[in-house]
Amino acid sequence: MNPRDDDDSPVSGVGSTEDKRYEAMLRPTTFSEFIGQDHVKDQLSIAIKAADRRDEALEHVLIYGPPGLGKTTIARIIANERGVPFRQTSGPVIERRGDVAALLSQLEAYSVLFIDEIHRLPSHIEEILYPAMEDLMFDILIGEGPGANAVRIGLPPFTLIGATTRAGMLTSPLRDRFGHQVKLAYYDNEALAQIVNVSAMKLEFDIDESATREIAHRARGTPRIANRLLRRVRDFAEVEGDGHGDLETAREALTRLGVDSIGLDTLDTQYLTILVEKFSTTAGLETMAAALGEETSTLEDVVEPFLIQRGFIMKTSRGRTITELGIRHLDLDLPASDGDLF
Ligand SMILES: Nc1ncnc2c1ncn2[C@@H]1O[C@H](COP(=O)(O)OP(=O)(O)O)[C@@H](O)[C@H]1O
Ligand SMILES: [Mg+2]
Repeated sequence: MNPRDDDDSPVSGVGSTEDKRYEAMLRPTTFSEFIGQDHVKDQLSIAIKAADRRDEALEHVLIYGPPGLGKTTIARIIANERGVPFRQTSGPVIERRGDVAALLSQLEAYSVLFIDEIHRLPSHIEEILYPAMEDLMFDILIGEGPGANAVRIGLPPFTLIGATTRAGMLTSPLRDRFGHQVKLAYYDNEALAQIVNVSAMKLEFDIDESATREIAHRARGTPRIANRLLRRVRDFAEVEGDGHGDLETAREALTRLGVDSIGLDTLDTQYLTILVEKFSTTAGLETMAAALGEETSTLEDVVEPFLIQRGFIMKTSRGRTITELGIRHLDLDLPASDGDLF
């Protein structure tokens, strides 16, 4: 099984019901519990203290990065640390002006309004948000058709937090209205091991240090995946062993999940294999999506960023090219070629 299969929307990073239940349980609620991403924590902690001191709303925050790295967690931590109400919605569910009116009219002073997948807001909604973000003004339409009247209402100071996997898809007028823009990077093994350790304690799962490290090492740089693999190892330890998580149990469980020695899952491996075997190292995004039977957005948001970060593929003018490192990882021999492939 692909360890990401229970994600009903890999793009948004919203997981299955089981995922959500555990996420709520494992989610850090303060920056002091939030592991890694030090530059982000520093920047936001200072901004929060300054806003507290001036008794102002925190400026709007844009958080971007691949799924599962902590965007929603950070948005919640901001509201929690400021002690203000948190309201959550997402780009694709806001369709009409009335939806925006309903959201904005519920805001209290300094509230956080969290819009997940903000790159998927319809453009006419985006335009309604500009004056709300900038001048705390919102036009309500009364009546319909040519006789409709716009009534301008003032809003309490609030903080809009937008999360996106694709900062590049945001229009510049929207992006420019965020005073703070933070980018989340993949986590290193050290940080992931700490996360797995804390989660294991919360789950009351007795696990060896070596098994913790193995999970961290195979978690694709992603806390959500680390937590999910930990739960699968716990299942395996309970069913196949005595409930204790040792290295052997962890290895066996992860291998059965189709997670390879460095954390690539079956989709990542298929991606690399197809690139070599079907397209002699280079193919366009659409071609890859068709060959894998996946959406282009899944490849762009979920699969490719990690393969690029590991140095296994590159984006070139001709599409996607596997690197020598990627080929070596697959341990495949290239067909004899008369030209220089790189
Ligand atoms: N820095 C971190 N420290 C500990 N746990 C984390 C961290 N970042 C994310 N997590 C955990 O990973 C899961 C996914 O995080 P989330 O904020 O939902 O990611 P995103 O919104 O970017 O998709 C959550 O259960 C959260 O508890
Ligand atoms: Mg999220």
